[in-house]
Amino acid sequence: MKKKYSARVRYAGEVASVPISPDVSLLENFVRAKLPIGRSCNGEGICTTCRVFIIRGEVTKPQELEEVRRVERDFAENERLSCQCKALSLDLDIEIP
Ligand code: FES
Repeated sequence: MKKKYSARVRYAGEVASVPISPDVSLLENFVRAKLPIGRSCNGEGICTTCRVFIIRGEVTKPQELEEVRRVERDFAENERLSCQCKALSLDLDIEIP
C-alpha cells in the first residue's frame, strides 16, 4: 500500500489539511490545493514570495540556489522556499506567512 503524505497548513487565520505528493515541490502541492501562496517567479527560486515555515516534519535540504536566497533575506532556520523543497515526512505542519 502506498503511503499517504499530508500537511496541516496554516494561512491567513485558516487551517487546511492538504494531501501532499512527495514527487513535486511543496509549492506545487499548495497550488493544486488552491491555497493562497505567492509564486511571482513561478518556482524559479528567485522571488521568495513562496516562503513558508516548516513547523513540524522533514523536507528536503536547501540546494545552492535556495541557500543564496536564504542568506540574502536572513531567513529563520525553519523558513524555506516552498518551490525548492519536497516532503520527506508523511506528516507536515506548515505555516504560510
Ligand atoms: S516561487 Fe519564486 S522563489 Fe519560489
